[in-house]
Amino acid sequence: MTAPRVVLGVSGGIAAYKACELLRRFTESGHQVQVVPTAAALHFVGEATWAALSGRPAATETWERVHEVPHVRIGQQADLVVVAPATADLLAKAAHGLADDLLTNTLLTARCPVVFAPAMHTEMWEHPATQENVATLRRRGAIVIEPAVGRLTGVDTGKGRLPDPAEIFAACRRVLARGSLTQDLAGRHVVVSAGGTREPLDPVRFLGNRSSGKQGYALAATAAARGARVTLVAANTALPDPAGVDVVRVGTALQLRDAVLKAAAEADAVVMAAAVADFRPAEYATGKIKKVDGVEPAPIVLVRNPDILAEISADRARPGQLVVGFAAETDDVLANGRAKLARKGCDLLVVNEVGDGKAFGQDTNSAVLLGADGSEVHIADGPKEVLADAIWDQVAARPADPADRSAG
Ligand SMILES: Cc1cc2nc3c(=O)[nH]c(=O)nc-3n(C[C@H](O)[C@H](O)[C@H](O)COP(=O)(O)O)c2cc1C
Repeated sequence: MTAPRVVLGVSGGIAAYKACELLRRFTESGHQVQVVPTAAALHFVGEATWAALSGRPAATETWERVHEVPHVRIGQQADLVVVAPATADLLAKAAHGLADDLLTNTLLTARCPVVFAPAMHTEMWEHPATQENVATLRRRGAIVIEPAVGRLTGVDTGKGRLPDPAEIFAACRRVLARGSLTQDLAGRHVVVSAGGTREPLDPVRFLGNRSSGKQGYALAATAAARGARVTLVAANTALPDPAGVDVVRVGTALQLRDAVLKAAAEADAVVMAAAVADFRPAEYATGKIKKVDGVEPAPIVLVRNPDILAEISADRARPGQLVVGFAAETDDVLANGRAKLARKGCDLLVVNEVGDGKAFGQDTNSAVLLGADGSEVHIADGPKEVLADAIWDQVAARPADPADRSAG
């Protein structure tokens, strides 16, 4: 299989340096990348950096190597064009079909999917001109990733920050795998839990688990990319907030339960990807438990935590609400998964094998999606976004309106 050909357009924003990390992610995962920086982008990161990181000269001039017709060829030959960062200026030119440099010519000649990752000050992002340009580009089928909220150039903070390069890369990989990104979850509100709960023993110690939150974050990011309103209930993760997602941070299983039940009250689907502790210490020591010479430590007495998945499955906050659970199993994976599906009463159970370097903390995952309707879909080992998309495919296949579902 030939390596996918990616054009990385870089326009003149302060976040241009972050495109270097995006470029590395593409090249290290076997993509052929042609970088096309604008003249303004070269004020921020020089041509030598792009050439060294991509392994080929950066394409900067419409009027160089004219016999190769670069203003047409680069776009025609691409499997994907991604512009990161996309300035307000670049979005305006793209929306209006201007072609006064190599990158804007490339955007007009590309017939492959195009992804824009805008980055600019909040005022520029919120300006009606920029918003209308973004709407125009989206209407024509381009994927415009929502900017993140956070620190901007200088002392300012707000919406307009370039999404994390890992997130842009994940979105591009999904586009390459699926050909496009549909907005099939538009109008739906979904709740995703992610990470692993920690049950405190004393102010410095806790009982925890190895969940990194990557699968839940992939679910949140892919749902947002498919148009859903997303609430992510995140337990003890060290991952950047996915762009366009409301993040509620929690620590313990009881806090996670409260946050999920609150968000689920108006949700169309709830996906419980977090690793929630089954037990918590019966007592919390308000001071650090001390080691005393010659005295054996007291045993830790555990009590059960509520079973959140069973609870939300049995008592749906809205008619027709879909509930998806996860089962991390180390052996008899499918048999245990089927038993758990029956016990919990959810609509779909994502069964994955964990341990021995599988799933926890990894970027890839394989799973079987067991449906309460008897369906069984096997997802081969691959990026966590691919599994996330397969889960959303199942959710999207069921009409948001329960009346439609029962009629069908
Ligand atoms: C220090 C500095 C930082 C800038 N950062 C941004 C930015 O983050 N986003 C943006 O839209 N424009 C930013 N600009 C303005 C653009 O560089 C300017 O609009 C330029 O014409 C963009 O050209 P291009 O779209 O062809 O790359 C910045 C300018 C300067 C001097």
